[in-house]
Amino acid sequence: MSSDAGSGASSQATLARPDLFEKCRNYGRMVGGYFMRPQDAKALGLYTYFEVFGPREGLPPGEIRWGDRTVLMFGSNDYLDLINHPRVKEAAIEAVRRYGSGCSGSRLLNGTLDLHVRLEAELAAFVGKQAAMTFGTGFQTNYATLSGLTEKGDVLVCDHNLHASLVEGALRSGARKVRFRHNDMDHLERCLRACAPDERILIVSESVFSMEGDVADLRNTVRLAKQYHARVFVDEAHGIGVFGPTGAGVAEQQGVLADVDIVMGTFSKSFASVGGFIAADQDVIEYLRHTTRGFVFSAALPPASVAAVLAALQIIREEPERRHRLLRTAQRLRSELRARGFWVYDGETPIVPVVIPNELDLFRVVRGLLEEGIYVNPVLKPAASQNLVRISCTAAHTDEHVERLVETLGRVTQRLNIDLSARPSA
Ligand SMILES: Cc1ncc(COP(=O)(O)O)c(C=O)c1O
Repeated sequence: MSSDAGSGASSQATLARPDLFEKCRNYGRMVGGYFMRPQDAKALGLYTYFEVFGPREGLPPGEIRWGDRTVLMFGSNDYLDLINHPRVKEAAIEAVRRYGSGCSGSRLLNGTLDLHVRLEAELAAFVGKQAAMTFGTGFQTNYATLSGLTEKGDVLVCDHNLHASLVEGALRSGARKVRFRHNDMDHLERCLRACAPDERILIVSESVFSMEGDVADLRNTVRLAKQYHARVFVDEAHGIGVFGPTGAGVAEQQGVLADVDIVMGTFSKSFASVGGFIAADQDVIEYLRHTTRGFVFSAALPPASVAAVLAALQIIREEPERRHRLLRTAQRLRSELRARGFWVYDGETPIVPVVIPNELDLFRVVRGLLEEGIYVNPVLKPAASQNLVRISCTAAHTDEHVERLVETLGRVTQRLNIDLSARPSA
């Protein structure tokens, strides 16, 4: 028996076997009707990912170092322009001095600092919930929460356009998954009505959808949740700090914060750091703190990151004018783009997408803008529902920056003979 198994193994070893790494050499995607690998895009001078930026030190707000040049940054999620704020930086530096560079362990065991406890209490109070817990990244927050909270017998009723971290969390969960058409409340209701009476339901939505920048109808979402006895999870990654009378997010702006059962936020955007959190009833937080693997088996956020968030939170509370200025700038950008003949979605968020259906055109425009001193993000399907240039405004941008962007975009698209005046077909 053992010698048969042994000879089988040795004859198998001589067979040609496909190489696991083959896919790494031939990785690519269909672009403009043909298969393009990253190295092909580089050879064509169209590759626009992993751009390398230098120190911000000494640069005016809104600008970033790119090689030996400075470029205008219109692709950052640092919405409130706090990454370079002296108080935020000083808080992080001071935390390293007092606590060191890391925590070397899970929150459950040796990793909890008084700084984490303070931050979680402040975040819970900020969004009006009983308790909060923090995670290493926003991605981890969504993944660990959805996968840890829901199981067989539950249903996750998800907006169609959710961020990958929510999709992955849902996929890892044993719950049944249902997707409703993007922000379509009639379809959401049909999905809820179709759930069995004994199924426990969690509705999952973003407040500001990360790529197109449109805003969820949270009022009707919570109304339907009440009607069908469902719970509601809202990812406020792009809403918190930006919307609402106190900056607590879109749910606050729409007057339904108290009806959202779980509020989620990331620290990599308005909080100028890295990490994420959820806030909810004490029971929910206590359960997840002891059970969800993405929290229990992962190291605590380092002191510098936590201290930076605490400082950013204080500034968010003290300086509402930052978010007001930001939203005014985004509106100005939309109207200037329209005045210049571009077709732009209606919207109110700092995320202003310009749809460019053809991928090659999209890369040419992004590359052309960068060479003219402006960075924007290229986003391809399926990361967004359409291929688009994702422009994001921050509180650092001035009217002059907006004019420069619009004028440059006009010049680049004209030179490349790309017409963006018509409403893109869905
Ligand atoms: C809606 C949304 N949720 C979650 C995340 C993940 O956050 P992080 O990048 O901080 O891990 C992002 C980030 O892109 C996001 O846009």
